[in-house]
Amino acid sequence: MNLLSGLTKAYASLRAIPNEMRMQRLAANPPVLASRDDLPLLLNIRNLRGSGVEIGVCKATFSEIVLGGWGGAKYHCVDPWREFPKDEYVDMANRPQDEQDKIMAFAKARLAKFGDKVEFVRKTSLDAAGDFANGSLDFVYIDGQHHYEAVRDDIHAWLPKVKPGGLLCGHDYLDGFIDNCQFGVKKAVDEFVKTKGWPLTVSLEMEFPSWFVFLPQA
Ligand SMILES: C[S@@+](CC[C@H](N)C(=O)[O-])C[C@H]1O[C@@H](n2cnc3c(N)ncnc32)[C@H](O)[C@@H]1O
Repeated sequence: MNLLSGLTKAYASLRAIPNEMRMQRLAANPPVLASRDDLPLLLNIRNLRGSGVEIGVCKATFSEIVLGGWGGAKYHCVDPWREFPKDEYVDMANRPQDEQDKIMAFAKARLAKFGDKVEFVRKTSLDAAGDFANGSLDFVYIDGQHHYEAVRDDIHAWLPKVKPGGLLCGHDYLDGFIDNCQFGVKKAVDEFVKTKGWPLTVSLEMEFPSWFVFLPQA
C-alpha cells in the first residue's frame, strides 16, 4: 500500500511539471509528454512542419487539437467512416453506416476553419497508405482499429512513409478488453520497437496513453 501511494505521488508530481517547463520536457531526448495534447508542440520543436497523417479520425476531436497548435503545412485525415462486421472490429467506434456519415460531416464542419491545410481521405488505413510516397511524411498518428493485427499492419504500412527523423506514433498504448473494445496496441508497438531497437516514449495519461517513436536521422 505504501509503495502504491509513493508511486501515485511521484506520478502526480511528474504530471504537474509546470507549464513553463513544457518546452524543456519536450525538447529532452527522449521527450516527456504529459499527454498526447503535447504532440503539436513536440512537432514544432522538432521542426516537423510538413505533412502529417492521422489514421482513425472519427469526430476529429484530436485533429482539432493538433491543428490548433501545429505549424505544419498539410494534415491528412484518414478514416473510412464505415460500419464493419461486428466480429471483425470490436470497438464502440464501429457504429451503423448512417451514424458514420453524420460523424464524417461533423468532422468536416469542425475542421473547416483550417481550410485547405486539411485533406479528408475516406479510405481504410491500408488502402490510404498506397497514396503516400515513401519518406514523404513528417509524422503519422495511428488511432484506427486497435486490435493487435490491425496495429501491427498499420505500423508496417506507414513506417516507410515517414521521413528519417520523423515521428511514428499512436493512441491507446494498452492491451486487453477495455470499455467494450479489443486492444493489442502495446503488444504490436513493443514488438516493433524491439525489432528496431529504437527508443519508445509513452505519454503520462493514467488511462489511454499514446506512444511515440522517432525514426533515426538518415
Ligand atoms: C478511436 S476512433 C479515432 C479517434 C480520434 N483519433 C480522436 O482521438 O479524436 C477510431 C476511428 O478509426 C476508424 N477506423 C476503423 N477502421 C479503420 C481502418 N481500417 N483504417 C482507418 N481508420 C479506421 C473508425 O471509423 C473510427 O472513426
